[in-house]
Amino acid sequence: MAEINDYVRDFYNSTAVKCDFICAVNDWDLTPSIKNIVSQMHPETMKRYYGSGLVIPEGIEGKRVLDIGCGSGSLVFILSKLVGPTGSVVGMDLTPNLISEGKNREDYHRDRWGYNKKNTEFFVGNAENLSELKDQSFDIIVSNGVFCLVPNKDNAFAEAFRLLKPDGEFYLNDVYGEKPAPSDMTDDLKAWDLGLTGSQLPDEFLASSKKAGFTTPYLTCVGPVNLSEAYKARLRGRRYICAGNRIFRLGSGTNRGPASVTYKGNIQGHESEFKWDINLTFKTGESVSVDEELATILAQTRYSAFFDLADAIGSVNTLRGQNPFTYLDQIQSQGKCPPHIYTVE
Ligand SMILES: C[S@@+](CC[C@H](N)C(=O)[O-])C[C@H]1O[C@@H](n2cnc3c(N)ncnc32)[C@H](O)[C@@H]1O
Repeated sequence: MAEINDYVRDFYNSTAVKCDFICAVNDWDLTPSIKNIVSQMHPETMKRYYGSGLVIPEGIEGKRVLDIGCGSGSLVFILSKLVGPTGSVVGMDLTPNLISEGKNREDYHRDRWGYNKKNTEFFVGNAENLSELKDQSFDIIVSNGVFCLVPNKDNAFAEAFRLLKPDGEFYLNDVYGEKPAPSDMTDDLKAWDLGLTGSQLPDEFLASSKKAGFTTPYLTCVGPVNLSEAYKARLRGRRYICAGNRIFRLGSGTNRGPASVTYKGNIQGHESEFKWDINLTFKTGESVSVDEELATILAQTRYSAFFDLADAIGSVNTLRGQNPFTYLDQIQSQGKCPPHIYTVE
């Protein structure tokens, strides 16, 4: 296990220097205000953006956020703008060269966002053991393209759960495989470094997040991974996909029953509507019935400030835990083809 961490660290340490691997920023998922923030980022930070799709939790002003596997800090700095001067963002990563890159750009982004004091912090660490950080010390955790590289995923999910405050959200984007990798590929370390052979199957992700104590995931976005012809042949038709999910560490508050919920339009940058996941986009002022679990989330977490809730009559079934490959097939059959996030050559 330690050996895999060493290979991953070496790969990303040298990639950070060579800058020869690029991921697309998933523009098609981003609001105009987020695109505007991305356009102001330091170019050296974005040259080392290796995410599997930017995951930007909404309504986070004043919150304390952790980015697990932050790389050069692209998401850390975007979120440092969104949390404002009263919030803070901690970025941690296994790779020292990427953490140095983040530290080197803190002053630039503090000045860019017009803050007197920086609200970011970076440190080198391992997602499998974050003993540097205190229990229940974050409102929100994000992670972008990292868990697929971590050998002990149970430990990493357990650590994320431990670090979240009750009613906190883990908003993660990662790479998932459609089927287990062929047995002759499991020793291919480059395929591991690029998120293929270490990635979970969608059902494995559901099981490990549940085991750690999280709610069933809400799928927010998908983007395919492009494989070279050589990799396609070696992987014998297996597909890989980047997918975003929201999962929650619910506190022990009373579960409420199904509700009719109305979005108030008060999340900055989401004034006319708020996309919750692939199934649900809340239009401002329009009521929607949601089941017990989603009603509890909207009543107990930070989202309670953004919704009016009333009891719903009858039973309601809100979809969650959906397979990203099935969703991709569905939208592709309707002629919608999200561009690929990165290419494995
Ligand atoms: C694909 S890159 C994504 C980086 C960053 N999230 C971004 O969006 O640019 C994967 C990152 O995960 C980090 N990583 C891999 N294994 C890790 C671990 N066990 N603990 C912490 N970070 C890890 C790597 O060093 C690398 O920076």
